[in-house]
Amino acid sequence: MPALPHYRRRRGEFLSRLDEPVLLFAGGDRPRNFPANHYPYRADSNFLFFFGKLERDAAALFDPGDGSVTLFLPRRTTDAAVWLGSVPSFDEMQEAAGVDRVLDVEHLEEHVAKLRQDRRLLSVAVMDPVATRIARQVTGLELRPDHIGPPELVDVLADLRLHKNEAELAEMREAADATGAAFTAAMAATGSGVTELSLAADAEWAMARRGATPAFSTVLSVRGEILHNQSHGGALQSGDLVLMDGGAEVPSGYAADVTRTWPASGRFSAAQRSVYDIVLRAVRVATEMVRPGVRYRDIHFRAAAVIAEGLAELGLMKGDPARAVERGAHAAFFPHGVGHLLGLDVHDLESFGDRVLYGPGRDRSSDFGTKYLRIDLDLEAGMVVTIEPGLYFVPAILRGEDFRKKFGDIVDFDRAERFLEANAGRGFGGVRIEDDVIVTDDDPEVLTAGIPSAAEDVEAAVGRRTRREVGVRA
Ligand code: GLY
Ligand code: MN
Ligand code: MN
Repeated sequence: MPALPHYRRRRGEFLSRLDEPVLLFAGGDRPRNFPANHYPYRADSNFLFFFGKLERDAAALFDPGDGSVTLFLPRRTTDAAVWLGSVPSFDEMQEAAGVDRVLDVEHLEEHVAKLRQDRRLLSVAVMDPVATRIARQVTGLELRPDHIGPPELVDVLADLRLHKNEAELAEMREAADATGAAFTAAMAATGSGVTELSLAADAEWAMARRGATPAFSTVLSVRGEILHNQSHGGALQSGDLVLMDGGAEVPSGYAADVTRTWPASGRFSAAQRSVYDIVLRAVRVATEMVRPGVRYRDIHFRAAAVIAEGLAELGLMKGDPARAVERGAHAAFFPHGVGHLLGLDVHDLESFGDRVLYGPGRDRSSDFGTKYLRIDLDLEAGMVVTIEPGLYFVPAILRGEDFRKKFGDIVDFDRAERFLEANAGRGFGGVRIEDDVIVTDDDPEVLTAGIPSAAEDVEAAVGRRTRREVGVRA
């Protein structure tokens, strides 16, 4: 966890840019299937940004009038101690959190009323739905479920959270390391007959050994062409490609987000290897572009161009690859954006919307594929982005009438059909390679460079555990 001076500095930066009091809410438990059965608690990311891990139902009032920060915490009661365990007293919390005062959250409504009486405007910034509901109850403000805060406040928060400082980058390095351990474990445990569920468990076990938890539901499937495939219902067969998209979250809340694709057998087939190497080239070319001043959308289209060139080499596309990208035909194989911001949220700042993620004067495209480009900012030092091109054989696209009509002169759909029928009819699947990259004033720093991505390195990592378990030296 970053030390207290980091959080105090961040709060000071925030206060210095406020004109009016601001309330932040940690949020509370989210019901899973009935109110008393919860998902694991995680605070709203804006709250985590200024306080790190704090108890549920906390709130914080930033007052630029006197430069103070007040924490509002749940009252310490015997009942709470019985069910949730003892927690430090308010005095202890004041010192530990480095705030000006700690008050009972039951009194927050009175404070809000007083600010209103004094005609001091009050803004509320929240991102998660539970925090929004609590904020609505306490403040009486009409906050819609998708409330994030007034634009001026969102801009300040976004600017602070966009530019990671060294303490935050250290957290992200730790998240990347735990994620590396997860991939090593899953690759090592890979073998014919192994279930997707047990491989995902191996990955998450490795995160736990590093004190981390999954930042999002791990994608681990031989059906990698389903982009956010949540199912772990299958078992590996020798001709399959395994795609895992997973990332660890460290206790401070910072995340990693990585994808690797590997052969279940430990050896890529010739066709798999040729597709794999196209994606590898795309991720390398795109990563090299991650520098200050570069427009993120240009990185996306450069990756698309590398993929289109590769598809032309494989005979899956005809004509000039640059023209194919202009027409949007690459999206038949690469139907998503090249990545997103990363930080406390896996798609960092995504709740702030395109006003923040695209910036002034830039609108989201409505074209298939490009409409999923999650950011279109000019990069600046301190930002962290993912770079995650992919190449997929999706039946719904490649057998879709619309695509066949629109791109019949560019895509060789008959040849694509052979990929859909590959692997004894199980289908080719998809390949994605995703890394986490810091924009620096110098060369890009790839946080996840230690996780194998060159085809030979991936092959060498697959099935290691199996060999060790049968007594063969890896
Ligand atoms: N794990 C979700 C993504 O890569 O965007
Ligand atoms: Mn991602
Ligand atoms: Mn991912």
